[in-house]
Amino acid sequence: MTVSPVAVRAETPACRQRAEALAASLELPPAPPAGFAGLLLVVDEAGLALADARHPERHPLRVDFGAGSSARRAAQAGRRSLIGRAAGLKPGFRPLVIDATAGLGQDAFTLAALGCRVHLVERHPVIHALLADGLERAGADPATAPVAERMTLECGEAETLLAERVAALGAQVVYLDPMFPERRKAARVKKAMQLFQALLGTGDEGDALLAAARASGVRRVVVKRPRKAPLLAGAAPDVVFGGKSVRFDVYLHHPG
Ligand SMILES: C[S@@+](CC[C@H](N)C(=O)[O-])C[C@H]1O[C@@H](n2cnc3c(N)ncnc32)[C@H](O)[C@@H]1O
Repeated sequence: MTVSPVAVRAETPACRQRAEALAASLELPPAPPAGFAGLLLVVDEAGLALADARHPERHPLRVDFGAGSSARRAAQAGRRSLIGRAAGLKPGFRPLVIDATAGLGQDAFTLAALGCRVHLVERHPVIHALLADGLERAGADPATAPVAERMTLECGEAETLLAERVAALGAQVVYLDPMFPERRKAARVKKAMQLFQALLGTGDEGDALLAAARASGVRRVVVKRPRKAPLLAGAAPDVVFGGKSVRFDVYLHHPG
């Protein structure tokens, strides 16, 4: 799948300065050229959104941790939720997690809402910008600020960062959710996934990430997969937490 070009667009004159600064920092065009059919990084009064330039009004993608978001709903499931059990949460124990494939931050927000400190690593600068914008808004909203305060974010390539970050932060869990072709039928999910794939392509580097995570010395590596997806690198997990549509493969490392 080919990756679509991205251009920045200011939604109102008041947003122009911010749009130009963002375009310069991401090295993107500050406005879409005539006939542009790629992706738009829209700067509006609410923040940032990613949209299809041909139908910008249809399902723009925005990082939102507000009421009703999937991350908020998942976090309400509590410590006994599938993701909480997979990450090894116990009464009185909340691991420090490195989410090495941060994406739109939904899983990281869920873990942070369950009480974990989470360091997010995202390699794509546009996704990183969307996520930084969502975290900024979450930090400014009294309802989500206590959770956002437990989250830190950096733009980088997890494979090269992991060993150093695990040691420096004393992380107990590395969490991985590599891209996998989406099969869910809901139009909104499908549209969001199409935008994501147009931006990132469908390349699956999960195998190398798993190797880097396991080599980092962290005690626990959690891999999120669609329920029937093959194992990453064909590696048999120590524990599997299976749900209706996803499963979590857990790899444990016992330092000798
Ligand atoms: C399926 S998404 C993750 C979704 C995320 N779990 C959530 O809840 O929103 C995968 C993300 O991982 C990022 N990614 C993939 N490989 C990476 C790597 N080696 N280092 C950093 N980020 C990576 C991709 O750019 C993409 O944004």
